Amino acid sequence: MKTLNLDITNALGSTVTRATVDALREEASKALETVDKGTGAGNDFLGWVNLPSALTPELLDDIEATAAGLRDKCEVVVSIGIGGSYLGAKAVIEALSDSFAAYRNDNNGPKVVFAGQNIGEDYLFELMNYLEDKKFGIIVISKSGTTTEPAIAFRLLKEMLERKEGKKNAAERIVAITDAHKGALRKLATEEGYKTFVIDDNVGGRFSVLTPVGLLPIAVAGYDIKALVDGARQMQEATTSPDYDTNAAMLYAATRNALYRAGKKIEILVNYNPKLHFFGEWWKQLYGESEGKEHKGIFPAAVDNSTDLHSMGQWIQDGERTIFETVISVESAEHETIIPADNDNLDGLNYIAGKRVDQVNKMAELGTRIAHIDGGVPNLTITVPALREVYLGQLIYFFEKACGISGYMLGVNPFNQPGVEDYKRNMFALLEKPGYEAQTAEIKSRLK
Ligand code: PA5
Repeated sequence: MKTLNLDITNALGSTVTRATVDALREEASKALETVDKGTGAGNDFLGWVNLPSALTPELLDDIEATAAGLRDKCEVVVSIGIGGSYLGAKAVIEALSDSFAAYRNDNNGPKVVFAGQNIGEDYLFELMNYLEDKKFGIIVISKSGTTTEPAIAFRLLKEMLERKEGKKNAAERIVAITDAHKGALRKLATEEGYKTFVIDDNVGGRFSVLTPVGLLPIAVAGYDIKALVDGARQMQEATTSPDYDTNAAMLYAATRNALYRAGKKIEILVNYNPKLHFFGEWWKQLYGESEGKEHKGIFPAAVDNSTDLHSMGQWIQDGERTIFETVISVESAEHETIIPADNDNLDGLNYIAGKRVDQVNKMAELGTRIAHIDGGVPNLTITVPALREVYLGQLIYFFEKACGISGYMLGVNPFNQPGVEDYKRNMFALLEKPGYEAQTAEIKSRLK
């Protein structure tokens, strides 16, 4: 089985040399040990480390059977969740889906749509409008079981489903994924008799895509979760070695920390395949929430090329030299499309007639890499053979493992997210949530 490949050659130059990266070998190895042995800050959130190999066949079968039940009953399944309870499933489904699936009236199983990842009133209104004449089901996901955005979406859609189907039938179309004991969602699911899956205490939201949080929506969308988990298992094995030269996660963590210390404060995750847009969003959350602490951390950004070469390309080529880029390069497209020859050649494109579109895309990628290196943008490239479940599983685990190592090298606890609470406190105070009376008085006094 092929595995992903990391190439850091083009990240090396005058800013960071191979010697600079090698000087971090011991530090990276210690950080790896801290992750693997669970001896660092946040070590009660390391359940994801051995998760791929710990997932039992029974759990995977249960997820697949539950997905099959929803696929039988529903034309649309709404996956409700935000942050780590949303982005992993969205990233994998988008990467594997036909780009125009949403516009097709086919019988390839239910469409999976998302809610609870925003509080846009029009979004929810339009979603409910769309669902009005559809047979739909709901997967409601919240580890804490108390997050406001998904709770609002679930209240609205639960009421709508019960109105359309009756309470009993609605309950058969709702699956809740939450903490084993705590939170409003657990209580509600128990009282309503929903099928539930548990998110273990020791797996944080942004590391939860390989739990039922990600696996159930992905299975409902019709994708092979066992292949996804297999890919993650391969990477789990490949990233325990303390040897830099064989452990790509360690090398990636060390290289990005070397670049950061040399003034490269922004990392741009680049793809040349629009299906990877949400993979970039998932990656941004993983690294942003894990590393952005104590006024430290690489700022994670993402672009979709070649689209964004026509918007952000100028800045990347020529703006402030505080950036480096990590390209996810996909070796093969799934479908062949040849550029036709044209007798008149009015558009002047005959010089590429007979080539696959992907060959042109690859030249855009190579040309951009050379231009960016010339422009002072260090380049890391991660190559995967294709956009398939197994390789996405590899990528997911690779980035998770590297994130743990990298966060410890940076000197932060990669597994908490204290900063996420601040906006919630203010929002609750402004909404006059019971229990927030003192904060309400304080924040209102600031608005006068
Ligand atoms: O990574 C995290 O922990 C967060 O992004 C959470 O996933 C997000 O806030 C949603 O939380 P919950 O699943 O508790 O509703």
